[in-house]
Amino acid sequence: MEDLYQEGKIRAIGVSNFLPHHLDALLETAKILPAVNQVRLAPGVYQEEVVAYCREKGILLEAWGPFGQGELFDSKQVQEIAANHGKSVAQIALAWSLAEGFLPLPKSVTASRIQANLDCFGIELSHEERETLKTIAVQSGAPRVDDMDF
Ligand SMILES: NC(=O)c1ccc[n+]([C@@H]2O[C@H](COP(=O)([O-])OP(=O)(O)OC[C@H]3O[C@@H](n4cnc5c(N)ncnc54)[C@H](OP(=O)(O)O)[C@@H]3O)[C@@H](O)[C@H]2O)c1
Repeated sequence: MEDLYQEGKIRAIGVSNFLPHHLDALLETAKILPAVNQVRLAPGVYQEEVVAYCREKGILLEAWGPFGQGELFDSKQVQEIAANHGKSVAQIALAWSLAEGFLPLPKSVTASRIQANLDCFGIELSHEERETLKTIAVQSGAPRVDDMDF
């Protein structure tokens, strides 16, 4: 990948689900810092260590599953914050992700949802709301990256 980068064939190198110890191992030999690390991040799914590490190194965090893979929609707390802003749960989740400096990677197969999800810019979340979203309990059947056996 570094050769392709040097040859100008690719513009950036990204990794996914890399935890600090993976990045440490990579950076022992890498000549080019990965531009992005795609990890699971959503309200209620906050991986402090990898977030702090990537922020410190200047690696963009791309938040996969920004709606908690759909589980966020049942959260009363998120519904409440959304209602206070006159926005949807999806828009609030994306606004939170952007406020944290993440690049959210949402998925929908529904055209009207894709369109509505785009209306997530300019939502001013308070510090308290951001903290609530960071720490809410969301039921998750999917493995968290930090639960995986690497
Ligand atoms: N790097 C990795 O290891 C990894 C792992 C998993 C996923 N990903 C990437 O992350 C992307 C997103 O992850 P994900 O699909 O698992 O989770 P997600 O984006 O958090 O959630 C997707 C779910 O939210 C629903 N949804 C979207 N907008 C909505 C809205 N406005 N109202 C109600 N429901 C809405 C979708 O339903 P509909 O589609 O039915 O509208 C779908 O069920 C994927 O496309 C994938 O590329 C990466």
